Amino acid sequence: MELAGCCLWFTGLSGAGKSTIANLVVEQLRERGRKVELLDGDEVREHLSKGLGFSKADRDVNIRRIGWVASVLARNGVVSVTAAISPYRALRDEVRGWTDNFVEIHVATSLEDCESRDVKGLYAKARTGEIPEFTGVSDPYEPPLSPEITLETAGHTPEESAAVVISWLEQHDLL
Ligand code: ADX
Repeated sequence: MELAGCCLWFTGLSGAGKSTIANLVVEQLRERGRKVELLDGDEVREHLSKGLGFSKADRDVNIRRIGWVASVLARNGVVSVTAAISPYRALRDEVRGWTDNFVEIHVATSLEDCESRDVKGLYAKARTGEIPEFTGVSDPYEPPLSPEITLETAGHTPEESAAVVISWLEQHDLL
């Protein structure tokens, strides 16, 4: 029997590890013969959402675009994997409403940890005000209230987090 498509919707702060974990999950799904498409935040903003900024209105447009593509893929048997901050609960819930097998995955790395690593140097710029409306610093992040999966990344490797996602999919007959 062919497995149903689904949407793995990663959400979390900038630098939380969404892309890293999502990439590992994608690799493992491909190895197991699933059709997979990754819609990564930074990449989407280069193509599908080029020119959009970080106001609430622009983020909402960005998330609706990603959500629409992800839902079209999911209903055609693909595992669509998204990795955008997607800070607003209402928008994530809106996408959930249109999408088959929506699996919300909260990458729950704390602001403190994201900021202390500051991989892209953006938190430092957000603190000085050089980057305005920065999620977690000067713009909201609304954590999911009942995500399908919460990844507590502190003290765990990205490989361990990816394994949690893979086993959840197996347990729910999506893999
Ligand atoms: S979302 O809010 O619309 O979901 P998205 O995931 O596409 O955001 O883009 C977030 C990435 O853009 C961050 O990881 C960071 O590299 C960069 N970025 C630039 N400015 C901001 C900002 N003001 N807030 C958050 N991220 C920003």
